[in-house]
Amino acid sequence: MAEFRIAPSLLSADFTRLEEQILLTLKGGASLLHIDVMDGHFVPNISIGVPIVECLSRKGYAPLDVHLMVERPEALLPLFFQKGVEKISVHLEATPHIHRALTLIQENRIQGGVALNPGTPVEALSPILGRADFFLVMTVNPGFGGQSFLPESVERVQQLRRLLHRTGVKKEIEVDGGINPGNVGLLRRAGADIFIAGHSIFSAPNIPQAVRSLQQSLKKAEQRRKQT
Ligand code: DX5
Ligand code: ZN
Repeated sequence: MAEFRIAPSLLSADFTRLEEQILLTLKGGASLLHIDVMDGHFVPNISIGVPIVECLSRKGYAPLDVHLMVERPEALLPLFFQKGVEKISVHLEATPHIHRALTLIQENRIQGGVALNPGTPVEALSPILGRADFFLVMTVNPGFGGQSFLPESVERVQQLRRLLHRTGVKKEIEVDGGINPGNVGLLRRAGADIFIAGHSIFSAPNIPQAVRSLQQSLKKAEQRRKQT
């Protein structure tokens, strides 16, 4: 089992104090910055994009995890091939050419991931299990921060972990949407490795403490797992 990581979703940050807030998340122990890119088509919202990624790439606060919620991502992908971008995920539902999108990312020495909406069966990932570097399981319908976690997501993570195990493939699973200290334990035990959280971190009165609470719940879940 890979070490867990916490990735703050910058969508919920106060953009007038972005640097300060990023540094607070890192102080709390976050180790990856999650950036949500939306196009108003694949999801009914528009968020942040290339200029922000360029600024963060220049500053190098922490590795970047770019989540593309855009239709036909292939055309836009090269804009995100920047220093410090560790991972880029594209939605399985957003392109008929998932292999092409993954290859394009991987050729640029960036980890290519496949993201899955809550309404898409986990088995749909079967053809690209060996090709993707990681998977992002949406635990809300994408498009907005601050939504409620869909509890059926725990089983979906478990299902994906089993599928990966059966095929002998060891890959990281990210979970994204409504993540908080109350559900990370279940998701960790189900097999998730990277925990993306926006609202539960940035709306907290103490940002480093909010990251630490996630870590504490994750550590507790791991201890319980070892004991059983
Ligand atoms: C939703 C985004 C998420 C979102 C998570 O479409 O992909 O990354 O910002 O935010 P919370 O944790 O507030 O649900
Ligand atoms: Zn996201």
